[in-house]
Amino acid sequence: MCGVTEAGGSEAHSGLICVAGRIGLVIQLNRGRVCYYSRHVSLTGTPLMPNTTLVPLLADGEFHSGQALANALGLSRTAVWKQLNRLQSLGLEVESVKGRGYRIPGGVELLDESRVRKGLQPPAHALLQELQLLETVDSTNAEVLRRIAAGTAPGLVCSAEQQTAGRGRRGRQWVSPFARNIYLSFSWEYHQGAAALEGLSLAVGVAVVRALSGLGVSGLQLKWPNDLLAQSGKLGGVLLEMAGDAAGRCQVVIGVGINVAMPTAAADTIDQAWVDLTRLCDGSPPGRNTLLAALLNELLPLAASFGDTGFAPWRAPWMALDAYAGTPVVLHSGEKRQAGVARGVDDRGALLLETTLGLQPVFGGEISLRAAS
Ligand code: BTN
Repeated sequence: MCGVTEAGGSEAHSGLICVAGRIGLVIQLNRGRVCYYSRHVSLTGTPLMPNTTLVPLLADGEFHSGQALANALGLSRTAVWKQLNRLQSLGLEVESVKGRGYRIPGGVELLDESRVRKGLQPPAHALLQELQLLETVDSTNAEVLRRIAAGTAPGLVCSAEQQTAGRGRRGRQWVSPFARNIYLSFSWEYHQGAAALEGLSLAVGVAVVRALSGLGVSGLQLKWPNDLLAQSGKLGGVLLEMAGDAAGRCQVVIGVGINVAMPTAAADTIDQAWVDLTRLCDGSPPGRNTLLAALLNELLPLAASFGDTGFAPWRAPWMALDAYAGTPVVLHSGEKRQAGVARGVDDRGALLLETTLGLQPVFGGEISLRAAS
């Protein structure tokens, strides 16, 4: 899955990317504030109609006539037609039937702050500082890093309908079509430096599986360091990025992407086997707002406790989900190849690779793991 470089960063530890050196004091700002949907401005500075102006009218999946849409928006039919074309270019399929009008087949559930908040349990609710739901952003991870640099407190959660430059691991692009999947990032602060965060991205994988299992999604597995798999395809991924002092006080951005209803056209650019929740759930995936809340219910408490617990309590749950346990594998690191048998992870989150030299701990970085052919 996946293209686009990772802010010039270099990976350290499993899936953790350092993107900045020291940053200034973090000031407690914006507690409880909610920012919903960014405004779009064209290159000439003219405001563009947000995609979400038209989409809610079509979200029910029913037909709406061009005239009804024009009336509802106070626009001409030509202007509505232009907006409809824009939705198509975002990857939203809009069906047009003469005499009936326009519809989005199957409908679409937009992100909705009140629905997300309603799904939050008290611990997550208490840890959430700010919920930022955007229509379009380059990358939710990049947005949270910008907000950290601007002094926003830990606990900022950012999700978006669409990412134009979604970041995957190893410099890949994360395919992020409009209103179809989950793109979630949030910040947390730690005081023990990057070393204390070893295994955090693996623990995040376990928390994501718990969130999805709670919604009835079964058969999920994890691939070291942090791929979420189902039916041998990639369902999601985790990308951690760090700002601050790698030896002391630092802020981590935890980014999670999950395929919910990947449109076939968008999927053409994905370069590996993939799956989405729609396929896993026989066409009825959990709603994206429910999913977002379920993820936050698991992820915020994990982030808040990880500084104290470290990876140790997450190791056994991770091993229980390990898709490659006991499998012959080849590790790829640039031009280097290392063959062995995957034997789970140690209590720092390092992959334990059994080779002729014995059991070797392997940390993250530019390593990918593929089953030996
Ligand atoms: C991977 O390559 O497996 C990691 C993918 C992580 C994607 C998520 S989507 C939300 C957040 N914002 C990004 O730009 N990337 C992460």
